[in-house]
Amino acid sequence: MQSFKSLAESLAAYMTPEPRAPESEAGGAASRTRPISGTPSETPAPYPSTAPPSHRAGRPSIAPRAWTDPPPSSMIPRPMTVPPLAAPPDEDDLDEEELLALAPSPTGRFGEELQAPPDGAEILVRGVPVRDLPKTALGGHTGLFAKGRGPDLLERPSEYYAWYETRSRAGLLPYSRSFDGPIGPMAPTRSEDGVVSEGLSFAANDYLALSTHPAVHEAAHQAIRDFGTIAGGSPILAGNTTLSRTLEEEVSKLVGMDHVVCFTSGWTAGFSAITALVREHDHIVMDVYSHACLQQGAAAATRKIARFRHRDNVSAERQIRKARDADPEGGILVITETLFSMDSDSPNIGELQDICHHYGATLLVDCAHDLGALGPGGTGRLGIENRLGTVDMLIGCFSKAFATSGGFVAVRHQKVRQYIRAFSGPYLFSTGLSPIQAAVALAALRVSASPEGDELRRRLMDASLTLRAELTARDLQCIGEPSALVPVMVGDEDVARVACAIAFERGLVCNLIEYPAVAVHMARFRLQLQSLHTREHAVLAARIVDESIQAAKQACGRTT
Ligand SMILES: Cc1ncc(COP(=O)(O)O)c(C=O)c1O
Repeated sequence: MQSFKSLAESLAAYMTPEPRAPESEAGGAASRTRPISGTPSETPAPYPSTAPPSHRAGRPSIAPRAWTDPPPSSMIPRPMTVPPLAAPPDEDDLDEEELLALAPSPTGRFGEELQAPPDGAEILVRGVPVRDLPKTALGGHTGLFAKGRGPDLLERPSEYYAWYETRSRAGLLPYSRSFDGPIGPMAPTRSEDGVVSEGLSFAANDYLALSTHPAVHEAAHQAIRDFGTIAGGSPILAGNTTLSRTLEEEVSKLVGMDHVVCFTSGWTAGFSAITALVREHDHIVMDVYSHACLQQGAAAATRKIARFRHRDNVSAERQIRKARDADPEGGILVITETLFSMDSDSPNIGELQDICHHYGATLLVDCAHDLGALGPGGTGRLGIENRLGTVDMLIGCFSKAFATSGGFVAVRHQKVRQYIRAFSGPYLFSTGLSPIQAAVALAALRVSASPEGDELRRRLMDASLTLRAELTARDLQCIGEPSALVPVMVGDEDVARVACAIAFERGLVCNLIEYPAVAVHMARFRLQLQSLHTREHAVLAARIVDESIQAAKQACGRTT
C-alpha cells in the first residue's frame, strides 16, 4: 500500500508543479521572404522527395520584397493560440553568479526611446521603421507574466496576451511556425497568419535528415500494414508491439546499457526517470541549465533541489556534499546532459560519475542532442569518450536524430527498469509508442549505426564547422563546441527580435532563443544543422545572420 500512496503523491505532484524554463524549438512569426542572392534553388536531395503533391501545389507564396516595402494586408496577424506559460526559475538555491545570469539587465533599455539609425536606409520590420515599433514588443519576457494573481483564472492571461499580441502584430514574435513540406534545409515555413517564407531553414531537428530517408519511409509504411496506426493502449497493459520491444533492445545495444524502457516523447522520458524514482524526502542536485523536462520532473518530485553552476563539477560536488552531510540516509539524484542544446557544450561526465559514486549519489544523464548526431556509430559524446554503459542512468530521445518523436530511459538493472515502468505516470496512464513511431525510430537507428550513418555525421559536422568558421570570421560570438547546434549570442531581446525578423525577411529561418529557455538578456540565435546542409548553405546563413544582427543593432541604437 505504501507504494501506491507514493504513486498517488507523485501523480498529485503533477498538478502542482513549479514549471521552469521550457525549451522553445520552434521558430516563427509572420514573415516575408526575400530570396537570397546566390541561394541554391534546391537542396541536394540524396533521397527522392516523398511529400504528396498536394503539399506543394497551390501554396500561397509572396513576391520578393525590399526591407522598405509596406506590409501587405495578409501580414496583419490574427490572434494566436497562447502557449503555456513558465514561471521564472526559482532563484532561492542559486548562488550569486547564477543569480546575476538571471537578473534583468542593468541597462534598463526596455521602454527607453530608441535612437534613430544613422545615415543610410531605414531598417523596417513589416514595413515599419524599428524606432516606431511598440517598445513593449521590443522588451519584456514571459517571466513577467508568470505569477498570475486574482480569483478569475481565465482573466489571468490578459496582460500576457496583450504583450503577446503586440509582439505578434509588430512582427517580433518568431514562434509557432509550421513547415509546408519535409523539414529540409530549403523547407518553406509558414507563420501562424499564413505567410510563407522560402529560403534557408536552420530551424528543425532531424540532424541526420532521416525523416526523408527511403528506408525509414518504407519501415513506416510496413508498420502500418503490419500493425495499423496506433498502440493498443498503455504499455503496461497491451500497448507494446514487437516493434517497440525490438526498439528497446536495439537502443540498449547502442547505448551500452542492459535495460531500456521507451516513452512517447523525450520529455516524458526525462520527467519519468526523475518522478518515478525520487520522493519528497530525497534530494536533487542538477546543472542549472538542465532541460525543462528535468527541471519540471525535479520540481514534481521533491522540494529539496540544489542547482550547480553550468558544467562545474566543483560546484556540483559542493552541492552533493551538502546534501549528503545534511542527510546521510537520503537518496541524491544528480542530473546533467551530455550536450546542452542552448550552449552546445558538455560537462566532464566521467568525473561527475566518480563524484556521485563517492557520495553514494545516482547520476542521470540526458543525451538528447548528441546521440545519433555525434560519435562513432552515433554513440554520442559517451561513445567518443569511451564511456558507454558507465553512467547510472541515461535518457534520450528519437526526435533529434532518429526521425520521430519518442524517448527512452536506459538503466543497468532490470529491477530499476521495472520500477520506473511501475511508477511513471506518463508510462502507466498514457498510450504507448505507435507502431509507426517505433518502426521509424528502429529504421533510423539502424541507418545511424551503419557506415551510411557515419557519412551523414561527417557531412553534418562539415556544414557545422563551416558555419562556425564563417560566423567567427565575422566576429560573431558563436559559443560551444562543434555539434549539430550552433548558438550565436546576441544578448538583449530588442536587438535579437529585430535581427530575427530581418533574417526571416531575408530568407533565413532559424530559432530565436530567449527567456524562458535562456536567461533574460542572454538571447541568441540557435542554428540547427542537418546532414543535408551544405557548405554553401552555411556560408549564406552566416552572412544573413551577421547582416541581420548588424542592421538590428543599428536600428536599436547600439554602437557595439
Ligand atoms: C535535453 C533535452 N531533453 C529532452 C528533450 C525532450 O525531447 P522531445 O522533444 O523528444 O520530447 C529535449 C527537447 O528538445 C531536450 O533538449
